[in-house]
Amino acid sequence: MKKVKVLFVCLGNICRSPTAHGVFQKLVNDAGLSERVVVDSAGTSGWHIGAPPDKRSAAAARQAGYDLSTLRGRQVAAEDFESFDYVLAMDESNLFDLQEACPPAHSHKLSLFLDFSSQETWREVPDPYYGDGDGFKLVLSLVEDASRGLLKHVNRNDLA
Ligand code: 4NP
Repeated sequence: MKKVKVLFVCLGNICRSPTAHGVFQKLVNDAGLSERVVVDSAGTSGWHIGAPPDKRSAAAARQAGYDLSTLRGRQVAAEDFESFDYVLAMDESNLFDLQEACPPAHSHKLSLFLDFSSQETWREVPDPYYGDGDGFKLVLSLVEDASRGLLKHVNRNDLA
């Protein structure tokens, strides 16, 4: 059976994309789809390769019932554009960097993650790294909402 592969991308791969990875993976697991949907995350930068998620992201996620402890930072690689079906950027800057690196044959796989959101206030997941704790809660709620939309989309378009 064909698998659907989703890659979440931010700058560092220690705050936003690991949060999306953990949240979407739990939704996929709870829906009994872990054999059909493959979830991963990566950073456009190589600054945090091998590093665990930021403690503030891990804590916000843990409080809401998501475990990020097994995740480690990695950088987006050329093969990712071939291998994944969805490559979802957290903000416009990440999307720009992905567009620069992606071969034209795969550029249809790139979009903003919040394109799958039910709200219209936020188009990007704001970078929480230099802000206060509230930024991490906002990231989590935006990610939870867009993850539900993404799973619905994948169910309809890729798994039906
Ligand atoms: P992320 O957040 O892109 O959501 O993982 C950041 C993490 C680290 C840095 C910037 C943003 N940094 O400058 O090291």
